[in-house]
Amino acid sequence: GGKMDDVLSLPVLLTERFQAVTGVDPELRPATKPQFGHFQSNVALRLAKAEGKPPREIAQRIVAEADVADLCEPLEVAGPGFINIRLRSDVLAGVVTGILRDPDGVIEQTTDPQRVVIDYSAPNVAKPMHVGNLRSTIIGDCFARVLRAQGHTVIAQNHIGDWGTQFGMLVEQILFEGIDADTLDLASSVALYRRAQEHFRSDEAFADAARRRVVALQSGDGQTRAIWRSLIEVSKTGFNAAYRRLGVLLTDDDLAGESIYNDLLAGVADDLAAAGIAVVDQGALVVFVPGDDAPLIVRKSDGGYGYAATDLAAVRYRFGTLDANRCIYVVGSPQAHHFSQVFAVSRMAGWVPEGGVLEHVGFGSVLGPDGKMFKTRDGKTVTLDTLLDLAEDVAAPEIAMAAVKYADLSTSLHKDYVFDADRMTATTGNTGPYLQYAHARVSGILRKAEAEGRASDGVTVLDDPAEQTLALLLSRFGEVVAEVATGLQPHKLCTYLFDTATALSTFYERCPVLKSEGEVRTSRLAICAATRTVLAKGLDLLGIVAPDRM
Ligand code: ARG
Repeated sequence: GGKMDDVLSLPVLLTERFQAVTGVDPELRPATKPQFGHFQSNVALRLAKAEGKPPREIAQRIVAEADVADLCEPLEVAGPGFINIRLRSDVLAGVVTGILRDPDGVIEQTTDPQRVVIDYSAPNVAKPMHVGNLRSTIIGDCFARVLRAQGHTVIAQNHIGDWGTQFGMLVEQILFEGIDADTLDLASSVALYRRAQEHFRSDEAFADAARRRVVALQSGDGQTRAIWRSLIEVSKTGFNAAYRRLGVLLTDDDLAGESIYNDLLAGVADDLAAAGIAVVDQGALVVFVPGDDAPLIVRKSDGGYGYAATDLAAVRYRFGTLDANRCIYVVGSPQAHHFSQVFAVSRMAGWVPEGGVLEHVGFGSVLGPDGKMFKTRDGKTVTLDTLLDLAEDVAAPEIAMAAVKYADLSTSLHKDYVFDADRMTATTGNTGPYLQYAHARVSGILRKAEAEGRASDGVTVLDDPAEQTLALLLSRFGEVVAEVATGLQPHKLCTYLFDTATALSTFYERCPVLKSEGEVRTSRLAICAATRTVLAKGLDLLGIVAPDRM
């Protein structure tokens, strides 16, 4: 009993068994060459130093004492004292059959379900979605999928920029031009924004009127609020079109824009002042965060509240009202300092409960072919739609989307990457379309086998190294997903899926499936089916469609 569950996390189980003998983490690593088995450990070399004994002697002792016969072939000591570990074929076969019998079981459910707020996407009203919003949307969507799959409650918070002094200028310009705000769309409101900015710069009387309009908006003037609300509606429609195009899970229910915190800002300022955390400095209310030269501004000297105050109120609301255990902010790296300040002040204020986690997941920029910030030919910042159009110029929509998302998720988040539509959409190499192709190809094989009426009975033969490599990879899926849920590094899942797709193609080369016979054929079809499950689930966690045909 219990074995079937255990084998899904083979490395974890093995680690425990070795640790019972070594007392320290054996640090099992994938073997560097097939002849060394599946895993290697250098624990004997490490212990030898501490115990002052020859490493090979210690390795021999571990090999003799470790209770792993039900999982491994006889252990081997190699070279100066490495331990080579080869899993038994029947154990590996059992894992793959387990995936086949219980496809949903490949993602282990958390034993500690949490309420996780993910702050992502967060475009600004009357501005086009920029590349930063695009990356945030794709990365945040991946986190939401991974954490939900593990059984956590994910509360998406789309912190859209729907408040601020720019709305005074926008509303004033609408009234000046006599436009019906409801007739605008995202593009025309962006154009309006530009005209308003220009007008503000060149006309002192208009600038004054715009400033008075900010006051009217804040004090709840009916007409001003109505126009402001129309502007938000117009942008929302534009954002939703982008979310549909991207195939992300965000809906209107996830909207929690800056404006919802308005009524909380004065309380935040008062409480911070009363606690002596915030002090008045040159007329402004600020917090000096220990170890940080720049103060965080809670209230400006003119009495207004800005971006930082709103984020303070948001932290308080997320832990206090939404009852979150963990808050993840998916926002470009240039805002790292902002978040380190907001998080520090929130902790000083006692708004973060014991064990509460605040994480800023930053990410780099998307660069043009020249290695500089990606700009359109006329020098404008690239919008979401231009990026997606560029990818769709060279590939079908489903493939273009996979290409863009995978490019975003497959390099370390903090790195900048070059937007190269041809490379991203290629069906070879470490790309989204390559993984889609691997899924489509294995689906095709399974389709043919089904047409012949041959159902699969599980993996019974696992002799070829290519079969073993693939099986070993399949057994690691749950572990990799768990690692992404904790460490928030989607590229680890991408690398894993790429390795799996590559192992699948080596398997095809060495191990004929449809052309083999009898038990070998049935067993290989089972390997194919389990691989398809893992690829499909993995792609789904990245937010990428897994097509059956391509
Ligand atoms: N609207 C901001 C931008 O486009 C991002 C907001 C991120 N979230 C937050 N809680 N500050 O840069």
